[in-house]
Amino acid sequence: MTLTSNPMAEPYKIKMVEPVKITTREFREKAAKEAGHNTFLLRSEDVYIDLLTDSGTNAMSESQWAGMMLGDEAYAGSKNYYFLEKVMHDCFGYKHLVPTHQGRGAENLVSNALIKPGQYVPGNMYFTTTRAHQELAGGNFVDVIIDDAHDPYNTNPFKGDVDLKKYEDLIKRVGAEQIAYITIGVTVNLAGGQPVSMANLKAVYELSQKHKIPVILDATRAIENAYFIKVREKGYENKSVREILREMCSYSDGATCSGKKDFHTNIGGFAACNDDAMAEHMRSMCVVYEGLQTYGGMTGRDMEAMARGILEASEDHVMAHRVAQAEYLGNKLIAAGIPIVLPIGGHGVFIDARAFYSHIPQEQYPAQKLANDIYVHSGVRTMERGNVSAGRCKETGKEFFPKLETVRVTIPRRVYTQSHFDVVADAIIDLYKQRDKAKGLKMVFEPKYLRFFQARFEML
Ligand code: F0G
Repeated sequence: MTLTSNPMAEPYKIKMVEPVKITTREFREKAAKEAGHNTFLLRSEDVYIDLLTDSGTNAMSESQWAGMMLGDEAYAGSKNYYFLEKVMHDCFGYKHLVPTHQGRGAENLVSNALIKPGQYVPGNMYFTTTRAHQELAGGNFVDVIIDDAHDPYNTNPFKGDVDLKKYEDLIKRVGAEQIAYITIGVTVNLAGGQPVSMANLKAVYELSQKHKIPVILDATRAIENAYFIKVREKGYENKSVREILREMCSYSDGATCSGKKDFHTNIGGFAACNDDAMAEHMRSMCVVYEGLQTYGGMTGRDMEAMARGILEASEDHVMAHRVAQAEYLGNKLIAAGIPIVLPIGGHGVFIDARAFYSHIPQEQYPAQKLANDIYVHSGVRTMERGNVSAGRCKETGKEFFPKLETVRVTIPRRVYTQSHFDVVADAIIDLYKQRDKAKGLKMVFEPKYLRFFQARFEML
């Protein structure tokens, strides 16, 4: 179902432009080598179309820019904080707001507030920074997502759902008191931007309440998830994205949120919850790690832009356009026979690198290599989401070798047009035709935490 006759047509017009650099293949080969074949280490100015991430790379609206001029840069009690608090309350419904510099700041606060060392933290597939904070707080992450999520070609419309049996088995095995909380990513980034259904959120919440286990949403792309519920789940087609969002959050006790995605901003985040004691704990941690509890690392103008962005992004037609862009790119790739994760995700298209480079074994990082090759071939920057991102097991030190070894072609909000996506698709299709020539990579530098950001590689 679409909400306008052509949701792909931009629901905005362009007022300011940013020129991009067009480079030669020779230039890019040198740049890729200097970056250790890690697209995170490239200089942004050497990139033609930047689809590394949708995080903080969004174009703000005139209303957001105007709001930036209304920043109340008081140390304490900025009026922009109170506006953000009201918008968060109206759209997400939580009682307490604790602002943070970005999503991982919120993850730190929640992990510290809820995890006792040795406890378990189930979740619907891991997210890199979320799991890192849970482990740093002494927790053990356990994946309880449905098996469908690990199969790139399974077309379940709600591949982000929690497997209730896996969750219940964990409760039986370790005891409810040994479970700090359950995190539910809405949508699930590493599964390919896959949403969670309302029915599943409700069932998880009921089971958790029975065992007194708090439910924490990773609400980073919750507005996208709400849109997917609207168009995919029976009974929600006539509800607004905002109504659906409120209902989703009602099946949780709190949330962490990166403000750099759905909210059309470049920085920011928050933690939210309903429990007074948890809020108090997070506020005291906020003062230590983020900033005063009424700014948490953001300026007044950041908070204003974020509040306005939440209101904009939760309009139905805005998400319809966003999802249509991902579908346009994804469908072009599918038509050319490129293996991508299905269904097409909300924030981007995920190429199945194990199928794309089927001759490169996973220990030679096929997704890392493919992201490198896409850049060298076309100047388009994408991101590895596979073995490098998954890292190593805390106990054994062994690599995880996740079933999903993907390259994420991520779509920043309101930044690129249809012709950019045509260029991207053509480049990937071109590369697919010459895939047999590609060789794998060897990791030559591995940082201790979140290795994918800074690891360096050499060609085999
Ligand atoms: N949760 C999810 C699902 C995310 O995608 C991210 C960030 C975070 C939490 C952490 O938020 O970056 O504001 O600290 N994802 C970025 C990405 C990095 O490219 O997907 P943050």
